[in-house]
Amino acid sequence: MSKTIANPNLPAPPSGKYPAKAHARRVAQWIADNGGPQSGIIYLEGQSLRMNEDDDTDAHFRQRRHFYYLTGCDLPDCYFAYDTAADRSTLWIPPIDPAFVMWAGMPLLPDQALKRYDVDDVKTSDELLKGGDSIRSMLQKQQTVIMAIKDRANLDLFQSGSLKECRPEINFEWVRKGIEACRVVKDDHEIAMIRHANIVSSYAHEQVLASVKRAKNERELNAVFVMHCHANGCKEQAYGCICAGGSNASTLHYVHNDMPLEGRLNLLLDAGCEYNCYCSDITRTFPLTGTFTKESKEIYTLVLHMQTECMKMIQAGVKWEDVHMKAHALAAEGLLALGILNRNLSIDKILDTRVTTRFLPHGLGHYLGMDTHDCGGNPNHDDPDEMFKYLRIRGVLPANSVVTNEPGIYFRKFPLEQELKDGKWEGIIDQEVLKRYWDVGGVRIEDDIWVKEGGCENLTTVKSGLEYVEATVNGS
Ligand code: GLY
Ligand code: MN
Ligand code: MN
Repeated sequence: MSKTIANPNLPAPPSGKYPAKAHARRVAQWIADNGGPQSGIIYLEGQSLRMNEDDDTDAHFRQRRHFYYLTGCDLPDCYFAYDTAADRSTLWIPPIDPAFVMWAGMPLLPDQALKRYDVDDVKTSDELLKGGDSIRSMLQKQQTVIMAIKDRANLDLFQSGSLKECRPEINFEWVRKGIEACRVVKDDHEIAMIRHANIVSSYAHEQVLASVKRAKNERELNAVFVMHCHANGCKEQAYGCICAGGSNASTLHYVHNDMPLEGRLNLLLDAGCEYNCYCSDITRTFPLTGTFTKESKEIYTLVLHMQTECMKMIQAGVKWEDVHMKAHALAAEGLLALGILNRNLSIDKILDTRVTTRFLPHGLGHYLGMDTHDCGGNPNHDDPDEMFKYLRIRGVLPANSVVTNEPGIYFRKFPLEQELKDGKWEGIIDQEVLKRYWDVGGVRIEDDIWVKEGGCENLTTVKSGLEYVEATVNGS
């Protein structure tokens, strides 16, 4: 453990300007290449500073991700426009408000913003909202199309406000489509940020593993994780930590994180911080005593095998459904070998019954980027086939996408016991064997994977494996 609170030995965070202009160009090109307007103005509004309801304190601020993608700007109450034909972008930031300065200090000034963000021009938002020259000059070209996101933009300015005489055509279809498609494929800067979030989260996971023996309640380990992320420069969590002892781990997105650890076998920690709006999403499962029981060890070994084998398939061009099916085939094989599933059945028969979805109910993984469950995966949650209903990516992975590889095996009393009572799995699940595994709760192992041509790279640096997790919990 480091002697200082922050670890001075962690790599420095990536430097350099966020490549917002390149993103704006890519989105415009994607729209033009896919049947959308050949030119126009991409117009986005950032998140506004909101108050908590019935209160005068600020709500937690989280920049709109599509806005950040085209600006790299994480300030509230900003606006953005990109004139695709002229290849010029403008960012409008809040003007100085003396009352705001009293409470919150000086805001960023336009010349400072111009240096910080990869845009061509910075103005203040009062100028935009009164329909000033910066926006008017973009609209004075013939037949300008404003491409906006419908539920995200207050377009009164153009429709009934001071710019209505410019009569721009407003198109709600293409910007969202274009940004969502482009965000799937990461550039070097984005990969560097996801990598850094992974380095900090991995370190925080290691600190949790090393703290287990001193903790009596899930909340203490949750706090250790968040503390090490924040102290090392990652203040935001990508999602609420899942810090689940024993059978709580069978709840996929368990959020309570406040139960005593005594008497429980394992802890599942699914936790990841953000760095500059880019996420990490990592899960480790380990024995609270430092030694897995026989049943826990069997399930841990199976899940790690599933993850390792799926990892070998991940590369540009692979169909994600095939990788997901590989995880299920290995789950079927493993559960059959343990006798939880009837040994007289073939793997194909087991897969046909869809019984493995009762032990691995979620998809094998999802895209990761500025959102934990990143956009562009084209899931089909209405798929009647239980095998694919919760799969968050459908289709082929492109090079430079980032996915999670997160197989799991869970023993979920509800609803499995009900189905068993109803006779649904008669001759398929052996209940006598199954009951030895309820206390295992759930095992998930999750890493963040950079998809490349001909292979992949694991961005998650905390290790996995029986020996590693046992030894780290035991303090070596
Ligand atoms: N942490 C949520 C997930 O793994 O998808
Ligand atoms: Mn995940
Ligand atoms: Mn996760």
